[in-house]
Amino acid sequence: MDKNVALVGFMGSGKSTIGRRLSMILKREFIDTDNFIVNREGMSINEIFAVKGEPYFRSLEAELCRRFANSKNKIIATGGGMIKSADNIENIKKGGIIIYLKCSPEKIYSNLKYDSSRPLLKTDDKLGKIKELLAERLPVYEGCADYTIDVSNSNIDESIKKILNIVNSI
Ligand code: S3P
Repeated sequence: MDKNVALVGFMGSGKSTIGRRLSMILKREFIDTDNFIVNREGMSINEIFAVKGEPYFRSLEAELCRRFANSKNKIIATGGGMIKSADNIENIKKGGIIIYLKCSPEKIYSNLKYDSSRPLLKTDDKLGKIKELLAERLPVYEGCADYTIDVSNSNIDESIKKILNIVNSI
């Protein structure tokens, strides 16, 4: 199986940590789309949103997805909002499979409680915002997923094991 494996899911669900570990186990190139964009722009995600605006950030995400359509063998940790574009989903699927890391709002909140690197969660009611955004996106995450893994009550090792089972069964 040489298709890309793209991890999608809400902010704070573990895509980057799990993706990096998975790439080491499978000896495949790892791309974290947020990191890629941060390195390319020389700015943090907060700065990109503040200075250049969210549409600019989304255009960089779209450009990356177009590249994924013609690539293989990569483990990709996507930004949580990547799937807001149907074109992005189509391009990711051209190059590989999508695994949705499903996570409860409470677990996401506990992971991101002290985090200030997500511009969309800069609010006094972080849990409320997580619930609102998640409700909006849930149908899209579920609709685009080839496979879904519930990571709400699993540790990283357990989640990786489940993903390896999927990858090895294809
Ligand atoms: C976003 C998720 C973030 C990052 C940006 C916007 C979103 O990525 O791309 O802050 O719209 O959900 P992570 O899912 O890696 O936190």
